[in-house]
Amino acid sequence: LAEGPLRGRHVLVTSGPTHEPIDPVRYIANRSSGRQGHAIAAALARLGARVTLVSGPVAVPDPAGVQVVRVETAREMLQACEAALPADGAICAAAVADWRVAREAGQKLKKEPGAGAPVLEMALNPDILATLSAHGRRPRLVVGFAAETERVVEHAQAKLARKGCDWIVANDVSGDVMGGTENAVHLVSAAGVEDWPRMPKQEVAARLAQRVAEALA
Ligand code: C5P
Repeated sequence: LAEGPLRGRHVLVTSGPTHEPIDPVRYIANRSSGRQGHAIAAALARLGARVTLVSGPVAVPDPAGVQVVRVETAREMLQACEAALPADGAICAAAVADWRVAREAGQKLKKEPGAGAPVLEMALNPDILATLSAHGRRPRLVVGFAAETERVVEHAQAKLARKGCDWIVANDVSGDVMGGTENAVHLVSAAGVEDWPRMPKQEVAARLAQRVAEALA
């Protein structure tokens, strides 16, 4: 059916933010459009991969030729990723919330006159990238992202070691990248650092998919 260098390969991609509920009408989230992750999923599919895209709540359309699993919270995202294994590669592009509210209220928190603001106790969310990197069924290639505003490569190298993944796509977000259509990235691995020129997110996705295909060849 599918042709291309990734034919027969299964690649897992996470994209978008996660929403961590406070009560039935409120949540905590990171800013993320899902544009880069969705573009990567589409680019991998164009190279013939079977792609499972685990996506948090986003407004961008589902990419063509990709199996989309929609989730809301980090814990749901991890569960969906583990359910999608085995995979040859995993690209973790989601902006996962680091914390969730420890106890989600079953009913909407009410503003009682004179009662002041609620104090929310937080709990740590699982790290999906680190979990997949250390998994018993670890994908052969695990790729993470890092958004940094300073000392971008240095932080990415530290993150590579800390998370146990193979590559970090380090994103310089000091400028106007967030929510925009272009990205300036460095590909950081044990082999060294590649500085990619500023280019549209679609093109970052195409180049990254090409590199994934070479790594999984
Ligand atoms: O630790 P930090 O959030 O800076 O790392 C970013 C990378 O880790 C991204 O690839 C992101 O998708 C992934 N991540 C994750 N689960 C988390 C936090 C981050 O998969 N809970």
